[in-house]
Amino acid sequence: MQEIKFYSGETIPLELHKVRIVQKLNLVPIERRLEALYEGGFNTFRLSTLDVFLDMLTDSGTNAMSDNQLAAMMQADDAYAGSQSFIRLQKAVEDVLGKKLLLPVHQGRAAENIISTAYIKKGSLVPMNYHFTTAMAHITQNGGKIAELLYDEAYKINSDHPFKGNMNIEKLEETIKHHGANNIPFIRMEASTNLIGGQPFSIQNLRDVRAMADKYGIRLVLDASLLGENAYLVLKREEEFKDSNMGEIIKIMTGMADLVYFSARKLSSSRGGGMCTDNMTIYKELEALVPLYEGFLTYGGISIREIEAMAVGLYETLDESMICQSPSFIKYLVDALDGKGIPVIKPAGVLGAHVDAMQFCAHIPQTEYPAGALASALFLISGVRGMERGSISNQRDEYGNETYADMELLRLAVPRRVFTLSQIKYVEDRLNWLYDNRLLIGGLRFVYEPPVLRFFMGGLEPTSDWPVKLMAKFKEDFGESL
Ligand code: F0G
Repeated sequence: MQEIKFYSGETIPLELHKVRIVQKLNLVPIERRLEALYEGGFNTFRLSTLDVFLDMLTDSGTNAMSDNQLAAMMQADDAYAGSQSFIRLQKAVEDVLGKKLLLPVHQGRAAENIISTAYIKKGSLVPMNYHFTTAMAHITQNGGKIAELLYDEAYKINSDHPFKGNMNIEKLEETIKHHGANNIPFIRMEASTNLIGGQPFSIQNLRDVRAMADKYGIRLVLDASLLGENAYLVLKREEEFKDSNMGEIIKIMTGMADLVYFSARKLSSSRGGGMCTDNMTIYKELEALVPLYEGFLTYGGISIREIEAMAVGLYETLDESMICQSPSFIKYLVDALDGKGIPVIKPAGVLGAHVDAMQFCAHIPQTEYPAGALASALFLISGVRGMERGSISNQRDEYGNETYADMELLRLAVPRRVFTLSQIKYVEDRLNWLYDNRLLIGGLRFVYEPPVLRFFMGGLEPTSDWPVKLMAKFKEDFGESL
């Protein structure tokens, strides 16, 4: 895709779509936002969208859908079994992901449940480039453990490494030798590694992982939820593929995996999910669990309309002018924040901009959850809802001890084709103000902690009346402005 230059010399990501359906937003006064924080236990998952201005919680199920996706939803062939919509999805999966055998599931973690139920037992170990919350929870629920095998560069906030999601091949071999290939049911590679800032892996790295999997006879499972963006960054950053197209890159990646699974809430801007393979043995090992947990094999718990949208969305993933939108807006935001000295993960990845709360709130100890505190503070002063991706999102170890995250991040998701550039500039502006007033932000502590995936519904409270003081300073500086 050709770069579009501005006469002014500015580098601005230009929208290559037009807006035809809009949703009105609310920007409620700061006093209401303070109440909402207390009501929602200082957990942005528990806020009502009535109180949220820009919803940057996630891209999951919130990407804008295309006119063609909506049109396809109207021709859904509603049937419990043998639906033609499912046949169209199978074809899309084969055309785009290059796999013939498809099992539908209601969302990404349902695939994780089925894969873990089928393959994990006590003593199993799953090496992965990095964990995702739900992937890890399903593995540990089934008695297994994970080993995260990244290179040191991945943990550096300020880096220019193009592929921080690469798996550490030397550590992978050591891990296999140490635990024994028999105890390793699969190696998991996550495209655009979510929790380290949406960082991709290279195709060369995937080739090296594949070679290791072959050497020791271990399955390779690819989490393709953010595959489109990983492929886009391969196109932009991996010399060997600079003249390839999205379709070729995606097929090279999926072609190396024995089993591919995905959240369609991300991958195809729709809902649902899937597992696909060319290996009949794997298909058979997973097949029986789909009707048990999800639904019949031709809908898997997904509405048939969404199956139509998924099929179209998969083809649209091949369109570079669509897939580039979110990464280019993220890069714009990351560059702008970095330019002001705000600590943010570099290079810009996918899914969202990731602010480093460990540095932003260096005065808040990890025991008081700096990323959760920063997410609350930003919501208070802007109505922007981000997501804590730090120790609150971590799970306790098997003995019930707190495990502190490698990184304390505030993720500001930029779902595809949802926000305008002035909205992104608003985020930048409010974060600048917050950075100048960062010492007013204080810590949080749990008052209610669920045993599994505690970050979703957990309740916290501030360790002092810092939110009130932060609000007072905002009013002093902004007067009557919202
Ligand atoms: N794998 C990855 C890499 C994900 O990012 C997600 C979800 C899942 C699996 C699970 O899929 O939500 O459809 O069950 N990520 C969302 C997020 C929730 O906000 O990053 P799901």
